[in-house]
Amino acid sequence: MEKSFFVRTFGCQMNEHDSERISNLLIRDGYVSSDNALTADVVVLNTCCIRENADTKLYGNLGHLKAIKDEREDFKIVVAGCLAQKDRDLIRKRAPWVDLVVGTHNVSRVATLLEETSTKGPIVEILEESILDQEFFSSPGPRLSLPYSAYVTVQIGCDNNCAFCIVPQVRGKEISRPFGELLGEVRQLAQDGVTEITLLGQNVNSYGRDLTVDARRSGVFDSKIVGEQYLSEEGARLRPLFGDLMREVAQIDGISRVRFTSPHPKDLRPETIEAMASTKEIMNHLHFPLQSGSDRILALMHRGYSAERYLEKLRDARLGIDDLAVTTDIIVGFPGETEEDFEATLEVAASAQYDGAYTFIYSPRPGTEAAAMVDRFIAPEVISDRFDRLKVVIERSALARHEARIGRVEEVLVEGPSKKNPDHMSGRTAQNKLVHFNKEPQFNSAERLGVGSYVEVEITSATPYFLRGRLLNVVRSPRHRRKLQVAAY
Ligand code: 5AD
Ligand code: SF4
Repeated sequence: MEKSFFVRTFGCQMNEHDSERISNLLIRDGYVSSDNALTADVVVLNTCCIRENADTKLYGNLGHLKAIKDEREDFKIVVAGCLAQKDRDLIRKRAPWVDLVVGTHNVSRVATLLEETSTKGPIVEILEESILDQEFFSSPGPRLSLPYSAYVTVQIGCDNNCAFCIVPQVRGKEISRPFGELLGEVRQLAQDGVTEITLLGQNVNSYGRDLTVDARRSGVFDSKIVGEQYLSEEGARLRPLFGDLMREVAQIDGISRVRFTSPHPKDLRPETIEAMASTKEIMNHLHFPLQSGSDRILALMHRGYSAERYLEKLRDARLGIDDLAVTTDIIVGFPGETEEDFEATLEVAASAQYDGAYTFIYSPRPGTEAAAMVDRFIAPEVISDRFDRLKVVIERSALARHEARIGRVEEVLVEGPSKKNPDHMSGRTAQNKLVHFNKEPQFNSAERLGVGSYVEVEITSATPYFLRGRLLNVVRSPRHRRKLQVAAY
């Protein structure tokens, strides 16, 4: 019988992407995907260490899994991701029943290592640097859950040093993938029927910075690395900018939607805005992490911008890009944050008029600069009060911006039946807003909506978190290959 695996992902899109990579490798190795951890042969926990309680959650989960391990000896437990990278041997010390611990730089070895655990026993393999060729330079293909969509990692690591953030320590220095390879990968995805590409990087807008530095140092300018058109014998402009990459990706046949996450506000360049403004396939949504609205806190965080500069960049983006949706990340309770600092955050958030925000309670990550500011930690009850007040401000602007869309007809990419109400379908607008809409009684069965179709929906009502609407038309059917139903007999 086929062996099955279950993957649980914690954290960000980068991790989700790594989970897809792990899943694809296991599928290639003959495993089938399962959505039940209790009956699967292998459980993979892909961990995150960016925010609160990651370790409590991990060890809680491992505690539950131990019961299964005690019953079934051939049951395998894999811990991958950032927390594994950071905690290494500690994981097996605290949970000796774990079979395999892999870090962020050798995800591609999961299937091989898992096989080896059967003969060698438990393995911990954490590398300091990527095994690049096999690692992030290989495409994991379309997303398993949404086969019309793919994440493409354009850059790994981060060269910034935000005082609260553990990423530079666990993901290493910034490395960009060669321009030509990225385009090749997107072409292949498009051939497989993918129509939506999300370009991923911790600091995506500084894509290419390292490519040209390396090329300059070595004196070799390879078109595969920097892109044909960015080569110049006189060495004029050698750097492919992120905007160039997005434009070229957008021009690939079959690609209708290009998204990206996340740019760092200090690095948002006019060229990126220009590329978004002039290319219809690049979606009008900008995730623009503010973190704090207080200049004093921003400086302590080493963010490299003031609140005023942030708002200026945002204004430029809104002026340049038609109908732009803007979302953000904000941390509440960074060490030393006073009421005045927090009020500055409320003010900036109100004037930015966000469509939505991920709001985080500051969580000390051991080894980061801010984690040492113990004497300035903020009391939990103060943080929780601030957190609630920030939520009110965010929800107010999100609702206003969503209500302003009522009556509009939006193009929606269909994700599938609504999770809450199976009588409805769900999908995303160009601005990345979730829309729930009615199923299609007006269409005959040949025209039924497939996952990955593009449809027109009239927006009928709004909440701060999603829109509701009425299906008007099917614009385009899905292009991706669908799995054929195999008759059972
Ligand atoms: N505490 C709280 N939030 C954090 N983030 C990163 N590190 C921390 C931390 N130590 C948030 C930031 C970042 C998002 C991905 O996670 O807002 O943009
Ligand atoms: Fe972390 Fe700052 Fe790098 Fe983002 S830019 S990954 S917050 S260090």
